[in-house]
Order: sequence, then C-alpha cells, then structure tokens
Amino acid sequence: MTTKIILDVDTGTDDAVALMVGALSPDIELVGATTVNGNTAVHNCTENTLRVFDWIGMPQVPVHEGMDRPMARAQMTQLNPAGRIHGDLLDLPPATTASVQPGHAVDWLIDTYLASAGDITLVPVGPLTNIAMAIQKAPAMLAKIPEIVIMGGAHDHGNSTASAEFNIWLDPEAARIVVNCGRPIRMVPLDATHRALVSLDDCRTLRGLGTPGGEAAARFVEKRIEGYGATQPMHRSNAAPVHDALAVCAVIDPTIITTQFIPVDVETDAELSVGRTVCDFRFRSGRPANVSFAMDADEPKFVRMLTEILGRTA
Ligand code: RIB
Ligand code: CA
Repeated sequence: MTTKIILDVDTGTDDAVALMVGALSPDIELVGATTVNGNTAVHNCTENTLRVFDWIGMPQVPVHEGMDRPMARAQMTQLNPAGRIHGDLLDLPPATTASVQPGHAVDWLIDTYLASAGDITLVPVGPLTNIAMAIQKAPAMLAKIPEIVIMGGAHDHGNSTASAEFNIWLDPEAARIVVNCGRPIRMVPLDATHRALVSLDDCRTLRGLGTPGGEAAARFVEKRIEGYGATQPMHRSNAAPVHDALAVCAVIDPTIITTQFIPVDVETDAELSVGRTVCDFRFRSGRPANVSFAMDADEPKFVRMLTEILGRTA
C-alpha cells in the first residue's frame, strides 16, 4: 500500500535527495511539490525542484511556487553555510521539460487538501511559511491532513543559532502556527538527522548504482560533506546529514526514527533563542503533548533505504 505525500521544499541539496526518494520509492505516491523561500530565493528553489524531476525522468510531478519571504518578520540574510552546503542552483542541467504550474502554492495546497479524501501526508522540509499561510487562509483544510511530518527543530543544539534549527529559525511565527495546529505531527529534528550521516564511502556506493538518482545524490552529498567540513564539522569526518531525506524515509518506515510524544512549542520573541523548538520532555508546562519528536535515527537503515530507492529509475 502506497502513502500519498506532498513535499514542501526549499530545494537545496538535501531537499533534492528527499524529492528523489519521494518520487522513486514504490511505497510513496508523490502528489506534488510546493516551493518556499529558505535555503535560497524561492525562484531558485523552484528551478532546482524542476531540475530534479527532469533529471530522474519525472517531469510530470506538479510543482507550485510559494512564499518568497517569512510571514511576519523581515527576510533573514541567507546563511553563509547555506551557500557552501546548497548553493543557489543545483549542479544539474537547467530544467527543460518540467515546468512550474500556474497558481500559488498556498492556494494549490488548500484546493488539493479540501478536494482530497484526507489521505495525503504533508511533508514540509523547509521553513513552514506556505503551510502556516494555507492554514490561516483555509482552516477547513486541517481536517483533511492525516499527518504532518516536519524536518525541522532541535532540542540539544541548533545550526542557525545556538538554540535554533534553520527551518524553524527562518520563520518562527509560521512554525508556531503549524506545531499548534492540532493535527498529528511527527518532527524530525537535528537530534535525529545528525545521527543518520551519509559518508563519502556511501557516495561511492550511490554513484556505483549507475542511476540518475544515485549519481545526483552522490553529487549533492559530496557537496554537503565539503560544506559541513568547512562550516559545521560533524562528530564524524567525511560524512554529512541529509536531513530532508530522513523525513521522507520516516514516512516509508516509521521505525527509522525514535520519537517521544511531548508538548513542543516555538519561541518567537526571546533574543537569544528565537526559533527554538521548546521540548517539554518532563511535562512541566502542564500542556498536552502535540508532537512526536525524534531524538534518534537508524543510520544503517537510512543508508540502506537511500541505496535501494535511488537505485530505481522512473
Ligand atoms: O536545518 C536543516 C534544514 O534547513 C534542511 O531542511 C535544509 O534543507 C535547510 O532547509
Ligand atoms: Ca530543506
């Protein structure tokens, strides 16, 4: 039985791997992708997403462009590491067959969910601006979202600041709306993604698959390994997290992550911790749990799944 998903992306290198996993997995029906301002300007995210679908021979997957800035606060200056880890345009040929669909991503999300049978898992792996705008504009769509699987957040350590992970930090107001929307939420934070690294040896295996997905993933992860080595070294050299792809793998096999159902909210005001996902593991707030928050991941299973899925062709 396949799971229908919509991927909301700020395509960058790990979003690109997530898109390929979602498009190529036999266990996923990728209904479409929506792009949002994040790793780079939204029109670059859109071009990058189209390049990915062209490259794997699936130009038919619908792509809609979304918000070009955060919903409330000023546009953050792009993070320097983002440039080293993502760049503005992916190292793939310009899109020639895949093209962006007419209509704003927020409206497409609303229309698609309202018309659905309530069977499309929403998988945001960038800032949550599109999702929050859609929820605000059409609260009725919430009843049609069975689950939201978010790549974002951090308990132990941030990457944009000491306290905050990039997707949440870039638009904390949007993130706060989404985590408090009342629908089932699984969050795949840095605490999990940093425990599921992909190595240079794994890139050699991916390239050896001889498939478009394997080649592109190897190219993107090698760039990530160089960028992480230069800007935020991991606990193991010659390896890097591929955050967004882990979120899609968690849809395919929920056992790949270890979660705790706890109260989670997002700091939007404090100077030092804006964008922090505040995790109430000991239920000190007296509030009910709202998020299944992942604190661990199965790295060998992650690499195995990437290899199996990216060895497939369209
Ligand atoms: O912090 C990691 C997240 O920020 C990933 O989704 C990456 O693509 C960037 O958007
Ligand atoms: Ca992303």
